[in-house]
Amino acid sequence: MNGRELLIGVTGGIAAYKTAALVSRLVQAGAGVSVVMTRSATRLVGPATFQALTRRPVQTEIFGPESHPHIELAARAELFCIAPATANLLAKAANGLADDLLSTVLLSFTGPVIMAPAMNCRMWEKPAVQRNVEQVRADGVLLIGPEEGSLSCGAQGTGRMASPEDIFQLIAKTLS
Ligand SMILES: Cc1cc2nc3c(=O)[nH]c(=O)nc-3n(C[C@H](O)[C@H](O)[C@H](O)COP(=O)(O)O)c2cc1C
Repeated sequence: MNGRELLIGVTGGIAAYKTAALVSRLVQAGAGVSVVMTRSATRLVGPATFQALTRRPVQTEIFGPESHPHIELAARAELFCIAPATANLLAKAANGLADDLLSTVLLSFTGPVIMAPAMNCRMWEKPAVQRNVEQVRADGVLLIGPEEGSLSCGAQGTGRMASPEDIFQLIAKTLS
C-alpha cells in the first residue's frame, strides 16, 4: 500500500461516515488518497473531514478551479474505490451516465474499480437495482457487500456497507 495512489469516491449514502475510517486506514498504510464526493455525499459528511484525513483538497465539481479534473484524477490513480455506492450511482455506472464529477471520473478511469453498495434493503432488492448490479459486475467492477444487519433507517436486512477493514483488504489484494 505504501506509495500507491488511490481514488476514493463517496456517494450519498449514510454509510459515508464509515468511509472516513477507510480513508484514514489507507493514509496510515502509506497510500496517497484523493477523494471525490457527490453533492449528496457532502450533505452527509463534510468534505473537510476527508480533506483533513488525506491532506489533499476534496473534489466535488466538474466546473471547478481545475481545468480537466475528471481526466487528471483518473490518470493519477491506480485504483478507484466507490464507498458507499448508492442505488443512483449503480444505475449511472450501469448506463455510462456522466452528469457529475464522480460519474465522469468513473468513465474516464481505466484501472480496477471497486464498489461497496449500501442502501435500504427494499431498495437493494428492487429488480432495477439488481439488474444494475449485474451489469456493473459484467463490466468488470469488483463488488463488495452489502451485508445483512441493522440498517440506519431501522429496518433489518441486506444493505449495510461492507466494513472499512474488509474494503481495505480488498483494495490491498487488488493492488498486489
Ligand atoms: C439521510 C439519507 C441517507 C441516505 N442513504 C442512502 C443509502 O444508504 N443508499 C442509497 O442508495 N441512497 C441513500 N440516500 C438517497 C441518496 O442520497 C439519493 O438517492 C441521492 O440522489 C444519491 O445521489 P448520489 O448517488 O449522486 O450521491 C439517502 C438519503 C438521505 C437523505
